[in-house]
Amino acid sequence: MGNLVVVGTQWGDEGKGKIVDILARDADVVVRYQGGSNAGHTVVNQRATFVFHLIPSGILYRGTLCIIGNGVVVDPEALIAEMDRLQAKGVKIGKNFVISQRAHLILPYHKAIEKASEQSRGSRRIGTTGRGIGPSYADKMARIGIRVGDLLNPSLFRRKLEENLVEINWFLERLYKVDGFQLEKVFQQYMGYAERLKGYIADTVTLLNKAIDEKRTVLFEGAQGTHLDVDFGTYPYVTSSSAVAGGACTGTGVGPTKIDAVLGVTKAYTTRVGSGPFPTELTDAVGSGLQERGKEFGATTGRPRRCGWFDGVLVRYATKVNGLASLAVTKLDVLDGCKELRVCTGYRHEGRLYREMPADLQVLTECQPVYETLRGWSSPTTGMTSYKKLPAEAKRYLNRVEELAGCPIDIISTGSKRDQTIILRNPLTVRSRKRQC
Ligand code: IMP
Repeated sequence: MGNLVVVGTQWGDEGKGKIVDILARDADVVVRYQGGSNAGHTVVNQRATFVFHLIPSGILYRGTLCIIGNGVVVDPEALIAEMDRLQAKGVKIGKNFVISQRAHLILPYHKAIEKASEQSRGSRRIGTTGRGIGPSYADKMARIGIRVGDLLNPSLFRRKLEENLVEINWFLERLYKVDGFQLEKVFQQYMGYAERLKGYIADTVTLLNKAIDEKRTVLFEGAQGTHLDVDFGTYPYVTSSSAVAGGACTGTGVGPTKIDAVLGVTKAYTTRVGSGPFPTELTDAVGSGLQERGKEFGATTGRPRRCGWFDGVLVRYATKVNGLASLAVTKLDVLDGCKELRVCTGYRHEGRLYREMPADLQVLTECQPVYETLRGWSSPTTGMTSYKKLPAEAKRYLNRVEELAGCPIDIISTGSKRDQTIILRNPLTVRSRKRQC
């Protein structure tokens, strides 16, 4: 068994949670490497429906070690609430869960700064999830962040907090004209979180590398998606972390030579939450049909997701920047009953044809997608587990997705439940296909 990174190839919400849940059955360790409680993964199994924001969904398997890596930003309040919700549903959280000492904390002022800054941007707002993600990463890069490990050292934590509040309160009160934060109140609140979390905080770099040396199987769970990545996404309409496969190394302390393959998760169509360009967006009845059938509402904020046709340019770019070895295509069943389907093969802007992802936001915002039309299928694919039995048109559609993405499909999801899945190959066991595309 190898070590596998699972990434989103679009703008997040591709269904990574379900895919990670299936693969976690064969993994010894599952580690989250970036993002924070902006993520929302839904997993449906025979017991219940579980929504994850921070904790890897591998926690549902006994004997799987679940790690929050150093690249994640941790909101302790959200984490404790998630632990409580999972424990109330009978999920065991003990020695099977570890948080990196090096992960950065989200503090209440991060959310306040984000809220005030989004409001002041007006129509140029990013449409963030409001979880304080961007300001926490900004502090990390500015070297004024407070880390999870600092919770275990009250005097250090207090000094850092005191220093930060001088500047933060100035911004909040003078620039944004909102209330600042009291040192003592935040300090006491976080010391309470420290009490609850201290048993889970550890050196995850040593733990992970030891597991790899012992030939254990590690699954690196990405959040958001390639086009929300701070470097490769539709900047500035992105999240503030490295959501691509490269983030798995910096976000965990595992070197690239230790990773065997990267699996890209892609929806059979495209969705996006928040602001920013979306060339294949459908604002008509076809788009609302996808939204309704696909239950396209954010797992974190409940916001409706914008929906559109499958975009081959987006996913081909994701194949490149992540070095994808294979794809998992999700929500194929949502396309059931569409008479015809379109797939985007390029963008046209001011007489120029783009086959590769343009970095220029203006091009992306103003371009016309170039479409190819394929025949839809009338018989339902919901719950199908055999590729052979798929309608011929669905097979043709999937072949075209593979061609456009430049990457072979390993898994096809035909419903939200674990067993509503077609597994052509298990990407955890096929080490030789590494860097095939
Ligand atoms: P932030 O990550 O809260 O800063 O939000 C930045 C952008 O990323 C916004 O457009 C969000 O809607 C989007 N975003 C963040 N997390 C997710 C996710 O898990 N799924 C989809 N979109 C997300």
